[in-house]
Amino acid sequence: MKRSPVTNKKLGFNTKAVRSGTFRSKAGEHSEALFLTSSFIFESSQQASDRFDGADNGMVYSRFTNPSVQMFEERLAALEDGESCLATASGMSAILSLCLTFLKSGDEILTTYSLFGATIQLFENILKKFGVSIKYVSLIELEEWKIEITNNTKLIYLESPSNPLNQVVDLTELAKLAKKKRIISVVDNCLCSPALQKPLHHGVDLVLHSATKFIDGQGRVMAGAIIGKKNLIEKIKNVTRTSGPALAPFNAWVLYKSLETLSIRMNAQSKSAKQIAEWLEKHPKISRVFYPELKTNCQFEIAMRQQSKGGAIVSFELFDLFPETKNLTAWKVIDKTKIFSKSGNLGDTRSIITHPSSTTHSRISKYFRKKSGITHLLVRLSIGLEDVNDLINDLNEALS
Ligand SMILES: Cc1ncc(COP(=O)(O)O)c(C=O)c1O
Repeated sequence: MKRSPVTNKKLGFNTKAVRSGTFRSKAGEHSEALFLTSSFIFESSQQASDRFDGADNGMVYSRFTNPSVQMFEERLAALEDGESCLATASGMSAILSLCLTFLKSGDEILTTYSLFGATIQLFENILKKFGVSIKYVSLIELEEWKIEITNNTKLIYLESPSNPLNQVVDLTELAKLAKKKRIISVVDNCLCSPALQKPLHHGVDLVLHSATKFIDGQGRVMAGAIIGKKNLIEKIKNVTRTSGPALAPFNAWVLYKSLETLSIRMNAQSKSAKQIAEWLEKHPKISRVFYPELKTNCQFEIAMRQQSKGGAIVSFELFDLFPETKNLTAWKVIDKTKIFSKSGNLGDTRSIITHPSSTTHSRISKYFRKKSGITHLLVRLSIGLEDVNDLINDLNEALS
């Protein structure tokens, strides 16, 4: 195997996106090969033994090492400016692996109500069973984070921007707080991707991704990833090596190729999203628009300090035209769109319209929905690569 000569950290984002993390076989393939194999052969018993005990860092078994997965991990680590990356089968398995590694019975996670629905369910329905306690604060209130830390807090976990309300927190301040108290801080960077925001630059310990979203960007495969200092990633790898949420080589290959266009997609999708958010803000049937790059957003300054663009997610709340029938106002608008896909996913080249309270956030309790501000009048858009005027016309007709 020949490794790519491109390892220079100072290279630009797009150069790293197309050139980093490559290794080629003796055939000299230009487009990186797909290593669809579960295991690897050894030249001798000595080599087998060395591979298993780590003296030789060659491939062993695809539950823990595979060249296609490693190429994806190295490229994503380069884009997040992290030392190391671990890829997993989904975003949720990345979150679970993180918790299994750093928490034990009696420990506490300090987190926020503004989380993806399944993350809250994982914390509430699964982790609590193992004696881990979960404390929630308002994402945007730094004072609350400060007050709620205890001696048992071992992990600070958040999304910024959050799904679906695009709330943010000052990452530098939060990372400082975590460092002072020696707590591991983790940011789910799913809505921005490294093309728009690099939490590690703000002092956060670990960045987490649902790579199913913008990193794939075309709605094809499931994956997750965690990026950070090598010593922390190695600890998580020790857990996943035996617990087994390995990323499939084919999915890794798809994602690796997707990273090549990440910045171009994120910038184009963000540009359209901003235009749509500004248009929605003026619409008489809409009471509020949630988008980080709107000047009217009270968190505009913090968001623009840490994000280069607002991202491709726009959420809005409607005035209730049918208060006697819950969901009808939002469902009518959603069902009338023709171009937007009605789906629970986000981060695709095709625009998606979602009703979070009856889909992605329907399985969390009313209490959590209320605390995170997700009402039945909230609609989430994930803006894709269609012509923006077609998307605005589609929304205009649906709203009328
Ligand atoms: C912000 C965020 N984090 C994590 C996840 C979970 O990722 P996955 O669906 O890849 O397991 C999602 C899924 O929608 C998400 O939106």
